[in-house]
Amino acid sequence: MLAGKRILLIIGGGIAAYKCCELIRLLRGRGAAVTPVLTAAAAEFVTPLTVSSLAGEAAHGDLFDLTREAEIGHIQLSRAADLVVVAPATADLMAKMAGGLANDLASTLLLATDKRVLLAPAMNVRMWEHPATQRNLARLRADGILFAGPNEGDMACGEFGPGRMAEPAEIVAAIDAALTDGPLKGRHILVTSGPTHEPIDPVRYIANRSSGAQGTALAAALRDLGARVSFVTGPADVAPPPGVTVIRVETAREMLSAVQAALPADAAVFAAAVADWRVANAAGQKMKKDGSGRMPVLDFAENPDILATVSQMTQGRPRLVVGFAAETHEVERHARDKRARKGCDWIVANDVSPATGIMGGSENAVTIIDAEGTECWERMSKSEVARRLAARIASKLGETA
Ligand code: C5P
Repeated sequence: MLAGKRILLIIGGGIAAYKCCELIRLLRGRGAAVTPVLTAAAAEFVTPLTVSSLAGEAAHGDLFDLTREAEIGHIQLSRAADLVVVAPATADLMAKMAGGLANDLASTLLLATDKRVLLAPAMNVRMWEHPATQRNLARLRADGILFAGPNEGDMACGEFGPGRMAEPAEIVAAIDAALTDGPLKGRHILVTSGPTHEPIDPVRYIANRSSGAQGTALAAALRDLGARVSFVTGPADVAPPPGVTVIRVETAREMLSAVQAALPADAAVFAAAVADWRVANAAGQKMKKDGSGRMPVLDFAENPDILATVSQMTQGRPRLVVGFAAETHEVERHARDKRARKGCDWIVANDVSPATGIMGGSENAVTIIDAEGTECWERMSKSEVARRLAARIASKLGETA
């Protein structure tokens, strides 16, 4: 499955580096070529000779090796691969990547590459759980970096917990998935998700019950079919999926600006539960009780309709615009009206009355309304809805290509 693919394998300095030998063997066994790069610390754990013998290629290690630089520059090295894999990805390498440092060959390649990057982190459990590492992880995920592991288990240092490097076979499976050309390869898809928060004053806001689960599942399913996904999310309960570009916003107006900045896209899916109104007289300072026993009066202004704005673009409109309609009654009629009023191509309608348990739950029952008619799907998990919707989007974009 990996025949003809080239993996640039960056080996970080940790005890798990010994597992790289097995990883290289597995990759070569599946037909991949492996270009190994060792950090200075990695060379303390495995020798360049071992690694280059297994890879059948010279191991790279020194940014300032002038002979090598003349033969194959480090920029070229970072571009010649189909995928860059870092295993083990140490806390130090993750920090360098998150901060954009380039002070040795490994970090320079990671900054210079135009290819997808997959990390297999390995470190002591305390180092993994440290807020600094978790911050770096979140930042790298937002940059679209892919991850395999870490796993939980006994560690070389005698502790137990998350931080063990994924097994070589698991890393190979993640590499397979990252290199598989899905039907959406080369497509850019925009997804909005989660609620918006509309401030009342600096500490209070108006929100809604959207968890962001459906939008997140959808972004992951589109990514799995090979799309480049821009994920514009309000403050959701669920974490954004790895491997997509995350743009975090709070208010509807910020969401509109982020959506406009992320365009052009082949398709745009608006799964966010955007507040229809914002507080027009939001206070700059925390509101205080004035002793009158009366609540301050809030004035509301209508928010921009992001779905309608994008649907009605005269230039650069995505070829497919999909809206959602969360309704509590007469779902199909309201959804049909909404599709006509906003001008989107499809509406994915669902019944969010409390009895259904859909809002904030893990299942969904949707009806798709498009120019051809109405399609009712049985109740299923939100991830299954996402997979089917992603497949339907892929098929539509395939038709109109
Ligand atoms: O009008 P309603 O809020 O029911 O429409 C729902 C659809 O419109 C969803 O796709 C939602 O993401 C989108 N929407 C939007 N901007 C708004 C309101 C809704 O994009 N201000």
